[in-house]
Amino acid sequence: MITLTHIGKQYGRIHAALVDVSFQIDPGEFIFLTGPSGAGKSTLLKLLFREQVPTTGELRIAGHRLASMPLKEIPALRRKMGIVFQDFKLIRTMTVFENVAFVLKILGMSHAEQKQRAFRALKMVGLQHKLASYPLQLSGGEQQRVAIARALVNDPLVLIADEPTGNLDPDLAQEIMALFERINGQGTTVLVATHDRNLIQRMKKRVIGLDHGRLAFDSPAPASMVVLPPLT
Ligand SMILES: Nc1ncnc2c1ncn2[C@@H]1O[C@H](COP(=O)(O)OP(=O)(O)OP(=O)(O)O)[C@@H](O)[C@H]1O
Ligand SMILES: [Mg+2]
Repeated sequence: MITLTHIGKQYGRIHAALVDVSFQIDPGEFIFLTGPSGAGKSTLLKLLFREQVPTTGELRIAGHRLASMPLKEIPALRRKMGIVFQDFKLIRTMTVFENVAFVLKILGMSHAEQKQRAFRALKMVGLQHKLASYPLQLSGGEQQRVAIARALVNDPLVLIADEPTGNLDPDLAQEIMALFERINGQGTTVLVATHDRNLIQRMKKRVIGLDHGRLAFDSPAPASMVVLPPLT
């Protein structure tokens, strides 16, 4: 689904944000990307949705070769992804429904289909009753759930989230992670950048660590406990 081969990213002439990073993510995986501030997490995610271009190496995602991809292919790439940010990035002057349906409108979908899909995405995050509210009338956790609904509305193959719980208290963070797990359970590949160690420890998923732009570790999800059959 996602393959990075010797990826390097320089900002300007000397600053290397990523150095020789290689790894592969299979379809349906749930992965945490972690590392200290400045390690290159956001940069790596930006390469995936083609906000930035790698300086060296090859990056493939859902059939697209990003390093050599023409600009006109960007919309097709982004239609396969849902992206969630720490600061939600909702449009304040639009209702919850309009925020979620916006992408579909741009894609030229009929109003009936926009309505049906937006409702389904909002239901998935448990906010179907808030569709007429405005973002500022919602709590932080609710706003983030709207942002997740917006990311899901187009049935993405991959959900990418950059510090999605950075502005939320631990309980809400846990709730958002449970939601990501459910989304992942439906087959969507999920990649979450975070430096919240508690969260990572609780979730028991594969964890990829960056440090100073280099791959520091790649630890598989801990094996699930073997359930023994009852003794007869
Ligand atoms: N647009 C940019 N121009 C120049 N340098 C940048 C740019 N974006 C990031 N950097 C630098 O690249 C390095 C990696 O930054 P990045 O934002 O990827 O780190 P991060 O792991 O996401 O950190 P944080 O946990 O603080 O979000 C940092 O040294 C940063 O200063
Ligand atoms: Mg970052």
